Amino acid sequence: MTEQSQGPALDNLLTESRTFPPSDEFAAAANAGPDLYAAAEADREAFWAKQAERLHWDSKWDQVLDWSDAPFAKWFVGGKLNVAYNCVDRHVESGHGEQIAIHWEGEPGDTRTITYANLLAEVSKTANALTELGLQAGDRVAIYMPMIPEAIFSMLACARLGLTHSVVFGGFSAEALRSRIEDASAKLVITTDGQYRRGKPAALKPAVDEAVAQTPTIEHVLVVKRTDTEVAWTEGRDIWWSDLVDKQSDQHTPEAFDSEHPLYILYTSGTTGKPKGILHTSGGYLTQASYTHFNVFDLKPDTDVYWCTADIGWVTGHSYIVYGPLSNRVTQVVYEGTPNTPHEGRHWEIVQKYGVSIYYTAPTLIRTFMKWGKDIPAKYDLSSLRVLGSVGEPINPEAWIWYRENIGANRTPIVDTWWQTETGAIMISPLPGVTSTKPGSAQRALPGVSAKVVDDQGKEVPHGGGGYLVLDKPWPSMLRGIWGDNDRYRDTYWSRFADQGFYFAGDGAKYDNDGDIWLLGRVDDVMNVSGHRISTTEVESALVSHPTVAEAAVVGATDPTTGQGIVAFVILRGDAVDGGADAVKALRDHVAKEIGPIAKPRQVMVVPELPKTRSGKIMRRLLRDVAENRSIGDVTTLADSSVMDMISQGLNKGG
Ligand code: WT7
Repeated sequence: MTEQSQGPALDNLLTESRTFPPSDEFAAAANAGPDLYAAAEADREAFWAKQAERLHWDSKWDQVLDWSDAPFAKWFVGGKLNVAYNCVDRHVESGHGEQIAIHWEGEPGDTRTITYANLLAEVSKTANALTELGLQAGDRVAIYMPMIPEAIFSMLACARLGLTHSVVFGGFSAEALRSRIEDASAKLVITTDGQYRRGKPAALKPAVDEAVAQTPTIEHVLVVKRTDTEVAWTEGRDIWWSDLVDKQSDQHTPEAFDSEHPLYILYTSGTTGKPKGILHTSGGYLTQASYTHFNVFDLKPDTDVYWCTADIGWVTGHSYIVYGPLSNRVTQVVYEGTPNTPHEGRHWEIVQKYGVSIYYTAPTLIRTFMKWGKDIPAKYDLSSLRVLGSVGEPINPEAWIWYRENIGANRTPIVDTWWQTETGAIMISPLPGVTSTKPGSAQRALPGVSAKVVDDQGKEVPHGGGGYLVLDKPWPSMLRGIWGDNDRYRDTYWSRFADQGFYFAGDGAKYDNDGDIWLLGRVDDVMNVSGHRISTTEVESALVSHPTVAEAAVVGATDPTTGQGIVAFVILRGDAVDGGADAVKALRDHVAKEIGPIAKPRQVMVVPELPKTRSGKIMRRLLRDVAENRSIGDVTTLADSSVMDMISQGLNKGG
């Protein structure tokens, strides 16, 4: 194994002997049986064609997969469908208009109950409104909103019209929004006046005003009133949702689009330069989102109440709140707020209130619940739960067991689902009802998906061995590229194992002795804070954009709650020698302003020098040793070997 793949190893490297087979009762009623693996193995393309039949196609495809222009895939070639029709209309047409699609729970406690018939009316009205604004299939729309129903109506209205949405997380800064609007040349931003943040309204529209002042492609800003926050108004450009959407007809006829029509762009951080606009298309994406949601969560549309706690600003919200679940006629909870507003039992109160049966969250939140204590969930009736899911980073066995015991009453299967913004849908996961689960391991590629752990040469490692996780066969929901940058797409994902034609996910992984896959974290420098990938370069650039900073290096240091915490090392400019508490606070705030609060460094250390190689590359490995209070590793490749002493001594003196 290389030095790189050992770097991000987490505490789940230990052998795990505990396994939890599904109960006979669960297995007997499960959507997925072991035959699914056999069917996929026998004929992969026929298997995916069968999964695609879950959807309504206006015209059927002529070819399942066209991989002749690899790594640019085409799935269900020649097929036509409407993604929103598949998520909404067809459920109404099949007689389920009165089924609740969304139990929406606002942070302040207001609620909305939305049936499929209501959803169809709202999406139709929104689609008619966007048409009135002059938008046409292929145009891009930025959505910068909190977790309110209008965000989902907006995504589905875009899908319905063939508009490509770019959802920007509402916690991101004006600058992050601006660069994403610019990269996609979006014509419209949909936003709100404000959003609730831990019980208090916070303005959102000012960030949009700041962003669009510099983005000439934007023609209109459509604003939902959420918090009654007073906002500045640009006549002609800004439009209230209530003025435009409410008056529209609730009838709208969907048009069928090509299977490869762009559905959305979602930006994700990279190691270098600007965020990458990950492009997803329609038919293959919806097929895999739908198939995985149905089988991995064992969704029973008539009886389950599903809840995915993600924000629609992340891919989890796209695939497992909007497209996968709604295509499967889910009844789901959508919650606007934070887990501790107004109290630390809020999630369990919601589970009890709606009888949630499937709950999907992230390890960072599970660790937070652990910190708050098991007495809190113990106060609520959680007996409706029957499947628990995890996503975003490796889940430590200890957290997995806590989750199973305290939330799942030692009864529910846990599905640890590995995937990425780029993969579009779940790739590696247990199947509840089939797999004997193992705390800390995502275990096995799903039927139809192929993943391998390989060494530096691209050769599969033996059981017990570690290396790089690769995907060696195309899959329907794979990214179709990076928006506007085909070269970067090839370089980023397909160059590491170009000879073998493998997609390199950027994660380290190992096989245990049973051949189950364990994810070991990123092999590059991207940090994972609360399940969010944040590039070191972006944080460093933000720090350096502050007038007092000459140079900066940031690393992710293990953090018991957020997975990793950002630790920044900065060299101040000669005329700004004050490295006191005020200066440090100013830098942390500055990063929050430039990138968003999620990127705010946990610690900022003012240092006289940074460790660099002779070619000038910062050696973050050594800084990670400092940040995690370890003795410093090998310094022989340092340009100046005294630098690490200078850094350590300076920090010790400073306390
Ligand atoms: C990266 C992708 C997929 C939606 C959320 C994050 C890490 C994700 C797991 C898991 C270990 C995981 C990987 C991956 N990751 N799920 N179950 N076990 N690691 O999407 O922001 O694109 O991040 O998150 O490192 O590459 P994303």
